[in-house]
Amino acid sequence: MSEPAVGILISGAGSNMLALVEAMQTGEVPARPAIVVSNDPQAAGLAKASALGVPTAVVDHRASKGDREAFDAAVNAKLREAGAEIVACAGFMRIMTPVLTGAWAGRMLNIHPSLLPLFKGLGTHARALEAGVCVHGATVHEVTQELDSGAILGQAAIPVLPGDTAQTLAARVLEREHVLYPRVLTAFIRDPEAARQTPIAIFPDP
Ligand code: GRF
Repeated sequence: MSEPAVGILISGAGSNMLALVEAMQTGEVPARPAIVVSNDPQAAGLAKASALGVPTAVVDHRASKGDREAFDAAVNAKLREAGAEIVACAGFMRIMTPVLTGAWAGRMLNIHPSLLPLFKGLGTHARALEAGVCVHGATVHEVTQELDSGAILGQAAIPVLPGDTAQTLAARVLEREHVLYPRVLTAFIRDPEAARQTPIAIFPDP
């Protein structure tokens, strides 16, 4: 797939979205940003995407009143209208149904702030501290119907330092997420099967 159009799903600050869009715009990632879709009209990432000239759309999940399929269908429509060929979830905080995961099977990635399969779901940094691990990090994986469980495409590790809090850990992991996600997306665009077979591993500086 050469220079595919990428749809990006966000819910909040959008720093991973920004890292992906900037990497596409500099040519580091051989793709173009088609649209940024948020489920939250207040998401700070929307303005950041607009500032970079990327079209945005809001599908407010509250309008679907708990009907996850209807919400997913509306998001899917935005992605299709924009011509997206690959979808990158970047801090998209919604549980998806097969309406989305099925439609984009094999073409949808997510970034999760832990070294999967450890710490699926929310509160990953606090849970890592609670568990006493000394290595933590982030994972880019394919999206399947089972939460945070698709094929691992890349991981970035960082040490847990004495005195770390969930906040300090989150900040250091996030910084590595911004390096990991563009690299994994590039590998996936070039050859999805090779990306699955040979995930990218980023280790901390010794
Ligand atoms: C990131 O840590 C991401 O891994 C997680 O939520 C956070 C989103 O941050 N799913 P941002 O919106 O990309 O700044």
